[in-house]
Amino acid sequence: MTDLLAAAQEARSHAHAPYSGFRVGAALEVEGGAVITGCNVENASYGLTICAERTAVASAIVAGHRRFRRIVLVTDADAPVSPCGACRQVLMEFAPDLIVESHGKTGMTSWTLSDLLPAAFRADVLP
Ligand code: THU
Repeated sequence: MTDLLAAAQEARSHAHAPYSGFRVGAALEVEGGAVITGCNVENASYGLTICAERTAVASAIVAGHRRFRRIVLVTDADAPVSPCGACRQVLMEFAPDLIVESHGKTGMTSWTLSDLLPAAFRADVLP
């Protein structure tokens, strides 16, 4: 088991997912090698839920990290889960070349973020 997978599993154990019952853990490896984790945080007002990937990104930014190498996701689902569209866009802000690795109970898949979000909206078009 990799350190990143173990970190994502530990983060998943902290998920607040009483509404969906779907616990997600994320471990973000930042430039320099530090590992920052996140879990999904649901809310009784369902639309306010924050995914594990975005809690990890916010924690990384708070800790002063802005360049990310790899994110490892883990859920309780059988098959590996890919990040939702909102998380793809948030990750793209900091790491277009990110490797995204996802673990389910029965397997693992990996992609690059550019594979998952081609033709992304990027800051370089802004005035
Ligand atoms: N969720 C994540 O944390 N990451 C994803 O990439 C997909 C979905 C969470 C949000 C919600 O708490 C639960 O999974 C079900 O959608």
